[in-house]
Amino acid sequence: MENTDYIKEVLITHEEIVSYCKRLAIEIEDTFSEEEEIILLCVLKGSLPFTAELLPNFKRPNVICEFIRASSYEGKTSESKGVIDISCNTLEIIEGKTIIILEDILDTGKTLEAIKGYLMAKGAKEVKVATLLDKPERRIVDIYADYVGFTIPNHFVIGFGLDYDEKYRNLKDIVIPYPEKL
Ligand code: XMP
Ligand code: MG
Repeated sequence: MENTDYIKEVLITHEEIVSYCKRLAIEIEDTFSEEEEIILLCVLKGSLPFTAELLPNFKRPNVICEFIRASSYEGKTSESKGVIDISCNTLEIIEGKTIIILEDILDTGKTLEAIKGYLMAKGAKEVKVATLLDKPERRIVDIYADYVGFTIPNHFVIGFGLDYDEKYRNLKDIVIPYPEKL
């Protein structure tokens, strides 16, 4: 039997995420003209499920999906190290373009600030942000997302891409865990 003892509370259900991703694709398509490319930049690894859920909802063909790697949390910890390591192999696509960063969660804002700075330095015209979760109480940097899925209270959450020690990314729902049971 599946062990779910570590789940204190289901915060956001998979159904809610699926429904939000449908609305988000429509909202993004409404803000870009038909001819304009929509360039989505998935922040690995946490935003992979969010990206995969969102992508097939776009109706037009000119939607491009690229990946960037950013890590701020490491190992068995739920606290940010404050050091952000960024790597991206597809820089040629960025120059002169509007990019939409897809984030799993906007927490202190340090990761997003670093990625935005990186993309602007590489020649992006404009950088927009779509975050599935927003935890505004924890914000240190003055930064906002253009599209926010769910605003959540200050809890450490796991599931749907969000990990603890690289595990639990596979959960369909986003849940608040009992830390001692992880
Ligand atoms: P910052 O603080 O830079 O953090 O905005 C963004 C990144 O930190 C991770 N993060 C979390 N990961 N549960 C997680 O599993 C959380 O509650 C949480 N809060 C922040 C995440 O990788 C995000 O991209
Ligand atoms: Mg992450």
